Amino acid sequence: MEQTETAGRTTSRRSFVLGGLAVGAGTIGAGRLLANPSSAFGSGGLTPGDAAILRFLAAAEILETDAWQQYNELGGIQDSEVPGGSGSAAYTAALQVLDSDMDQYIHDNTEDELTHFTFINAYLVSKGADPVNLDQFRTLPSSKATGARQIGRLTNLMQLTVDTSWWTRYRSRTKNPDFGDTFPQAVPGLSTGQFPGVPRNDGDLAPKAHLQAIANTAGFHFAFIEQGGTSLYPSLAQRVTHPEVLRILLSIGPTETMHFQTWQDKAGNAPPLTDPTNGLVFPDLNAPPFDGEDFQTNLIMPEPTTFLRRTFPVCSIIRPTETDGAAMGAVKALTANGLFRGQSPAFFAVLHDLAEAADAARHGT
Ligand SMILES: [Fe+2]
Ligand SMILES: [Fe+2]
Repeated sequence: MEQTETAGRTTSRRSFVLGGLAVGAGTIGAGRLLANPSSAFGSGGLTPGDAAILRFLAAAEILETDAWQQYNELGGIQDSEVPGGSGSAAYTAALQVLDSDMDQYIHDNTEDELTHFTFINAYLVSKGADPVNLDQFRTLPSSKATGARQIGRLTNLMQLTVDTSWWTRYRSRTKNPDFGDTFPQAVPGLSTGQFPGVPRNDGDLAPKAHLQAIANTAGFHFAFIEQGGTSLYPSLAQRVTHPEVLRILLSIGPTETMHFQTWQDKAGNAPPLTDPTNGLVFPDLNAPPFDGEDFQTNLIMPEPTTFLRRTFPVCSIIRPTETDGAAMGAVKALTANGLFRGQSPAFFAVLHDLAEAADAARHGT
């Protein structure tokens, strides 16, 4: 009986296609054929797994946006596309030591993140699913430096512990985090203490080497944030079911990679220095012991490395892309980064639940 129905549908579908082609493409009939009536999604709805993955990504994008907006208020371009703040001339100039277009890039990255969460939330609503709203957790203080808005924030950019191992991870030709390999820090000092990525107040605008250390910290933090997105999207794409949800992940993910590559290039221009106020050292990445191909600052494309099996030839790839626990891994990395220092237990509980649901999704379920 089922077979007969299926066969009947197949037959009518074929003749319908042929009929459609006979009168030209783009007929209503041809469009209807693309909707598979036996699919698991019902009338355009999402599977619970797809909704969970999109909700986690919406949350991650809201958090990214919150961080980027703080950077833009002080060091980017404040305009109608990215409103808020009035800029800090001294901080903006320190960032421009890394690249004269830093303010433009900060602005554009911020706008991208705004559109990512706004789109994903709108898509969720269009499918009858709940969007994500973290407004109740906008409780963290703003920078008191001139140029920043005085509003509650989701993220803390003033006590960062920046993991800079992405620098050597993308330069290694033999190691891959998906095999459990670990990578040395490019800026060891940044990965242990707590350092501001924006001036905390106008007192942080001097001495010059202190302000430059803050700008350098931001430079490495930008790439840390965006390499995370670069891995998160391909990792979670392996779990989605609906082709359109896959398309969303495959269309947003590579923009994170475009951000990452830009920031990797700029971080390489961070001038070597020691912050006279706290001893934080930014080493010369082209001088011993940091010289050699792993550190060379003009290597901003991924070195090919081992992928899937050690016996395969090396391949230039995003790394990591392991899908198991990818969402929770992202939460842990951002938390260790200090981005949520001062947040409430309720905030961590919500983030934990969103990540757990995304990681429980399976392709085809
Ligand atoms: Fe994003
Ligand atoms: Fe991003």
